[in-house]
Amino acid sequence: MPADTFVARLNEQVGHEFAAHQQYVACAVYYDAETLPQLARFFYRQALEERDHAMMMVQYLIDADAAVAIPALPAPQSGFADIVAPVALALEQERRVTTQINALAATAREAGDYTSEQFMQWFIKEQVEEVATMSDLLRVVQRSRDDPMEVENYMAREHPGEEDEDPTAPHPAGAR
Ligand SMILES: [Fe+2]
Ligand SMILES: [Fe+2]
Repeated sequence: MPADTFVARLNEQVGHEFAAHQQYVACAVYYDAETLPQLARFFYRQALEERDHAMMMVQYLIDADAAVAIPALPAPQSGFADIVAPVALALEQERRVTTQINALAATAREAGDYTSEQFMQWFIKEQVEEVATMSDLLRVVQRSRDDPMEVENYMAREHPGEEDEDPTAPHPAGAR
């Protein structure tokens, strides 16, 4: 059995990941309405990744015979001042999640729950990538304030489609 302290915090994290999903859907819808389809597509896909993160954590709890409580969520931000604002919000969110993920690993270690600590390693690596992707995108979108087609071209070039399947990723609940 995983440590009770870890189970409680991982359940909270399931909520944070679903909240990230909702926030990224709201960002995608904003860009879709602005007719910036490449940015919209990127955020719709990021949203699905966040849902997967939540479902990977759910699967871990199920496998460990631990209690799972799917939580209610606060509403995401839907209105944005300009095309930079959603990416700035996303970067802030990824930095916050990185802190949460590291705290989860620390909780597991302090409780002597090394299985759960190891489970968190994939998420630690994933957060490094997500923070890097969002900070690159923030720089590009800031340079594109006056010409949004610049960031659209960048997205089409640098983030053209589905990312490669990661064989080391934990299994999301219900995925097969
Ligand atoms: Fe996530
Ligand atoms: Fe993320």
